[in-house]
Amino acid sequence: MVIYHLSTECYPIAKVGGLADVVGALPKYQNKVKGIDAKVVMPWYNKPFVHEHEFEVVFDGFIHQRSNMLQVQVMKEKTNVLGFELYMVRIPGLLDRDNPYGYQDESFQFLAFQQGILHWLCAMELRPDVLHCHDYHTGLVPFMVEHCPEFSFLQGVKTIGTIHNGEYQGMMNWNMANYMPSFDAYKWGLMDWNGFMNPLASMIKCSHAFTTVSEGYLEELFISFRGLESLVRQEFGKAYGIINGIDAEVWNPETDPMLDFNFNSKNAVAQKKKNKQKLCKEYGLNPKLPLFAFIGRFATEKGADLLPDVVWKSIKQSYGALNIMILGSGNTYIENKLKEYDYTYTNFALDLGYKEHLSHKIYASADFLLMPSRVEPCGLNQMYSMRYGTVPVVRYTGGLKDTVEDISTGGAGLNFTYPGVDDIVHAMNRALGIYNQKGIMEELIHANMNFDFAWEKSAEKYLALYNS
Ligand code: ADP
Ligand code: GLC
Repeated sequence: MVIYHLSTECYPIAKVGGLADVVGALPKYQNKVKGIDAKVVMPWYNKPFVHEHEFEVVFDGFIHQRSNMLQVQVMKEKTNVLGFELYMVRIPGLLDRDNPYGYQDESFQFLAFQQGILHWLCAMELRPDVLHCHDYHTGLVPFMVEHCPEFSFLQGVKTIGTIHNGEYQGMMNWNMANYMPSFDAYKWGLMDWNGFMNPLASMIKCSHAFTTVSEGYLEELFISFRGLESLVRQEFGKAYGIINGIDAEVWNPETDPMLDFNFNSKNAVAQKKKNKQKLCKEYGLNPKLPLFAFIGRFATEKGADLLPDVVWKSIKQSYGALNIMILGSGNTYIENKLKEYDYTYTNFALDLGYKEHLSHKIYASADFLLMPSRVEPCGLNQMYSMRYGTVPVVRYTGGLKDTVEDISTGGAGLNFTYPGVDDIVHAMNRALGIYNQKGIMEELIHANMNFDFAWEKSAEKYLALYNS
């Protein structure tokens, strides 16, 4: 079975968040199953990876969009260094940029990316079995495959859509339809939601099945989905929640080259302490105090707007008996407020930016990982932290609900219900109580490290879905 994963991100080439981690790992695990050939197709960005690896051109063509004509090349990485075939769609001036997102013309970018992929696939002798579309950036592929005569060669090919984050739907004005490949006008409703072209809605309508990255998140979408609630209820018969796994080869504390001191569950307590001491020294924190960490985008869905108040309140309430470290970037107001506290409190350390190495060091060093998310479709941070023996303190929502059970009901993490400062600080106080009971803390470290979040089980669920 030949499967193409279509995505704008893939670790380690271009990563903005968890989407990259999933697309960089899932195909690798699918390929371990006999008879499966899973590949990845993504845009060609101006990233170190493309300059450091050898590529060959496997397709050279054009996209016609009304008055636009774009050159498209598909480049294949020659050695399958990532454990799967990697194809990158190169569209000069539109996709060959430094980053996946943040450009004014993103609607053009993603439309062209999707058309480029389909032109290339249509030029092949054999059709693929499954096109697996990730998030709204490739959400129009199911419509295009089924309803655009230009791609009729692919009509009937099975399409699966995975919703990693329903907060982003890629809505566009209908004048963007001018840049679509031609389609029968009466089919416009398959792309429409409330008077806009909505790629995520179209993915739900036109794919043969769609998935969310946890069961908990799927349940929530019926109630809250930025306007698409009724659509997901109507299409629930082809909806599946499949939890993400983690790449146990990349995220292995025993071999992770980004750590100062590697460890396994036998020597975790001592080795984690050494990692913590080093990190605390570097950031001027007291290694004797418990270390709470947050890693992530400064977005309201992550509850990042609550962090400044959490910092001052938890430090004040505990009389300075804890450390907090935050790694991330995003909203400027949050960044500035946190910078201010970085100057004010010796118990608080801030590192602004995206730093893969540092994130690994923090997962390995911290005692607790905070995730006050308002929305969390799956969340990978909590799983990474658990694998690295760090106790997750998370809001009870989406994928966090499915992966972290509270210590009070036999789990090895801490849950709180509301994404509010008081609830978070209350959960941190509970964590402090646990930290002071050495035996329990050590048990939690081991229990967390022993959870099995390997991709195999979820990869199998996807395969079962393709087969169905
Ligand atoms: P999302 O995709 O919504 O941002 P996830 O929990 O699925 O959330 O994945 C986030 C991924 O991005 C994790 O691999 C996390 O370690 C990483 N990450 C987030 N922010 C940073 C940062 N500032 N530096 C390094 N890695 C980060
Ligand atoms: C999205 C979600 C996150 C999820 C990731 C990978 O970015 O916000 O919760 O873990 O996709 O599926």
